[in-house]
Amino acid sequence: MMPGRSRPVPGPYDGEAALIRDILKMGDPRLLRVAKPVEDPADPALGPIIADMVETMHATNGVGLAAPQIGVDLRLVIFGFDTNPRYPDEAPVPATTLINPWLKILTDETEDGWEGCLSVPGLRGLVPRATHIRYGGILEGGEVLEREARGFHARVFQHEYDHLDGILYPQRIRDMTKFGFIEALFPGSLLAAVEAESAA
Ligand code: NI
Repeated sequence: MMPGRSRPVPGPYDGEAALIRDILKMGDPRLLRVAKPVEDPADPALGPIIADMVETMHATNGVGLAAPQIGVDLRLVIFGFDTNPRYPDEAPVPATTLINPWLKILTDETEDGWEGCLSVPGLRGLVPRATHIRYGGILEGGEVLEREARGFHARVFQHEYDHLDGILYPQRIRDMTKFGFIEALFPGSLLAAVEAESAA
């Protein structure tokens, strides 16, 4: 355990620096729980949790992070990026924090795409996801958000939403021959180099 990873004084968020938190890895039973709804979305205790999630996601080059991944059993996700070295070919997704998110699949059409997960480091798998969804939830400021998304944006949301129901992407893979280590699947790629650096 690195020093400085636990908050020395628990209490309401007072603007202290956010912390990079340890990310739970696949095999940890806490990743398999159905997370609990946030009872009070205005609870100031959410502030430092969200700040830590943002800091942790950025430090690890993630495109999304769900609260259960840092051991917080709440229905809370963050996601979004302008550009991301782990997904260099994807269009931007707006930076979003959602409390008690919901998901509605709008089509029977699915598309296979390569996914990774900060809780499954070093690996990628080909995962079918619905191509068109509507989703929403409560923003950190209390406003209600509702949005439609397609393509990678829809994929990212579905991946994060799955974490809240205790589902990791390997459970969604149909063809297990399309699941493996990045340096073996994509040898010599920039992605392999980025992943090696992110994991370091
Ligand atoms: Ni994930």
